[in-house]
Amino acid sequence: MKNLGILLSGRGSNFTAIADNIAVGTLAARISVVISNRSDAQGIEAARQRRIPAIVLPSKGKPREEHDRATVAALRDHNVDLVCLAGYMRLLSPWFVQQFPHKILNIHPSLLPAFPGLEAQQQAFAFGVKIAGCTVHFVDEELDHGPIIVQKSVPVLDSDDEHTLAMRILEQEHLAYTEAIKIVSEGKFKIVGRRIVR
Ligand code: GAR
Repeated sequence: MKNLGILLSGRGSNFTAIADNIAVGTLAARISVVISNRSDAQGIEAARQRRIPAIVLPSKGKPREEHDRATVAALRDHNVDLVCLAGYMRLLSPWFVQQFPHKILNIHPSLLPAFPGLEAQQQAFAFGVKIAGCTVHFVDEELDHGPIIVQKSVPVLDSDDEHTLAMRILEQEHLAYTEAIKIVSEGKFKIVGRRIVR
């Protein structure tokens, strides 16, 4: 069973979806630590309520690599095997990425490579796409870029606004992250170029 380390910056709904799936036995894993770079992250409170070790390592004003070194030390202290970025609004330094090769996952609320970066759902809505979605991918040294593990699509309805679309994408995120963690922790895949083949 893999030890997960969750990094988040805000609401934490992807974290709680993963925790719920572990609690009901849909996902065989253990969350050993939740780390936030923001003290006001709701996800930290949710972790404490669940009695999961929760750590705040404020990033504001810190050089990126210094903050990353503290984060990696905390992940190591908790014997983390897989790092799951769940709304972690901070770019990892190349050094961080190299500490956990093919062991860092990220969720992004678009069908990558479309709409990387911030507010992806709003970008997709404003662009007028008819199919939106989410992506769970391995983290590499470029933003929203590494090999894709799971994608889920969401139709954009004429009646949608940015908010309703983002909420329907979020429902799919909650399914996609658990699926991706299963695939990676079971190790039943090969990486061929950029392709994850099972
Ligand atoms: C999610 O929609 C996630 O895909 C997005 O932030 C939200 C976090 O929600 N991540 C990114 O945009 C990363 N580029 P949550 O805190 O409720 O899981």
